Amino acid sequence: VTATTTENITYRTDLAGVDWGALKAALAADRFDNGRTADQLCRSFENSRLTVLAESDGRVVGTARALSDGVCSACVVDVWTQARYRRRGIARRMMELLLGRLPGQHVYLFTDDSVGFYEKLGFREQPVGLGMVVGRWLQESA
Ligand SMILES: CC(C)(COP(=O)(O)OP(=O)(O)OC[C@H]1O[C@@H](n2cnc3c(N)ncnc32)[C@H](O)[C@@H]1OP(=O)(O)O)[C@@H](O)C(=O)NCCC(=O)NCCS
Repeated sequence: VTATTTENITYRTDLAGVDWGALKAALAADRFDNGRTADQLCRSFENSRLTVLAESDGRVVGTARALSDGVCSACVVDVWTQARYRRRGIARRMMELLLGRLPGQHVYLFTDDSVGFYEKLGFREQPVGLGMVVGRWLQESA
């Protein structure tokens, strides 16, 4: 567990006591809800190798998480800072906390419109990205 505080924002790497319904509502208000139920949101974070939450007054205002094999490959997803907290270094700090725990690994991610943000952290566009949804989005079994 890591907990550090800057400018009234606390960063932590555990998930104790998170109000997943409140987080889903905050994501929806920012149009960053991708359809997971509160329970699916919870499980996707719990099943991630690394997570970082940024909190203000006990509310989650930023998230980032990484899937990783712990050796060579990782994938960063759900990087989000609540709209009114943007542009004060919160996502940069969350990414630093994740990347600091992925030494030696190739980190992949996808973004539509935040390329400049990731380039500032050292990411570079790579030539081809391929992906598919297996079956129907968020439908876990037939
Ligand atoms: C992208 C996002 C996570 C950035 O969060 P943030 O907390 O505002 O980012 P920071 O304040 O830590 O920004 C770090 C640096 O990136 C820059 N930056 C931030 N957002 C940027 C963007 N969309 N495009 C280009 N540069 C950006 C900042 O100016 C800052 O630069 P500096 O260090 O030179 O001052 C946030 O805008 C967000 O949640 N967007 C919607 C969700 C999203 O698109 N997430 C990425 C999906 S993969």
